[in-house]
Amino acid sequence: MTSRDRIQTLLRSHPGEYLSGEKISHLLHISRAAVWKQVKVLRESGFDIEAKHSLGYRLVAAPDLLDGADIEAGLACRLIGQRVVSLTETDSTNIQARRIAEEGAIEGTVVVADQQNSGRGRLGRSWESPSGVNLYCSILLRPKIPVQQAPQLTFLSAVAVVETLEDVCHLSAEVKWPNDILVNGAKICGLLNEMNAETEQIHFVILGVGVNLNMTASQFPDGLNYPATSALLETGKAVDRLVFLRAFIQRLDLYYSEFLREGFSPIRRRWESLCKLINVQVEVDQGSHRCCGTVVGLDVDGALRLQLNNGKVERILAGDIRPTEKK
Ligand code: BTN
Repeated sequence: MTSRDRIQTLLRSHPGEYLSGEKISHLLHISRAAVWKQVKVLRESGFDIEAKHSLGYRLVAAPDLLDGADIEAGLACRLIGQRVVSLTETDSTNIQARRIAEEGAIEGTVVVADQQNSGRGRLGRSWESPSGVNLYCSILLRPKIPVQQAPQLTFLSAVAVVETLEDVCHLSAEVKWPNDILVNGAKICGLLNEMNAETEQIHFVILGVGVNLNMTASQFPDGLNYPATSALLETGKAVDRLVFLRAFIQRLDLYYSEFLREGFSPIRRRWESLCKLINVQVEVDQGSHRCCGTVVGLDVDGALRLQLNNGKVERILAGDIRPTEKK
């Protein structure tokens, strides 16, 4: 996180309290002049921060807007977040990202929306996307990698989301193959990655990321076929969407650069370390077919490696997995 984001997180976590410049500078290891400078930047972007000579700084009100310029400001990224398209309301950020990709938008463009009215989930499902509470974003990538390797990017976004949940919300999350993120067994984030390619060449990949940040229990739709949660429900604390998105973009940018340099192995290892089902007996539901086995890990193309009871290791390309034994 940048100093600016760390200061606003600190002020938010002390509601109604004054924090002296000295204390902030000590906690964040920055000078008092830097604290003052960043407070000025925050005020310019709509934060109401009171400054009292003898007491310090107090947050009076914070905007919860996903303004494109605020998202981009001071991001130290190589590729991702060079351009941000911020929409108040849209059908689906994945649809909009695809549209601008076809028009030639640059790699790393991020499309974010306050609200989606046709948010898309996996397997043709919809994704509940009310205004003012969650993160809905899609990232456009144009990797020069073989088409078969495109699914690897899903795991990259999963690792970046888990680490951002830890960093910004102090939540311990786990990954669930193929593209869910869970906290205490309930889904907090879904990933929907889509590709446009010819036989040999990827034109673009869209990483769609939906994270339930400040959704309340009554905002979840009835009839979900899995338990769902939000960061607010887990911690009791509201999350600043701007801080979360900026931290996520920076992490994703680092991992994407690493992926282009070193390939899939580092991300695969990180993903496996965040998966609680490795070495656990699971049942795989593939619609018409079910099988049981022990999860061994990920294959190079993102397939799940499952050791069947006869010892043979099978590659699972799609399906829902659930543990058959207590974790
Ligand atoms: C899932 O079914 O788990 C995947 C959900 C993906 C939702 C995100 S929200 C941002 C992006 N835009 C969409 O329409 N879907 C993805």
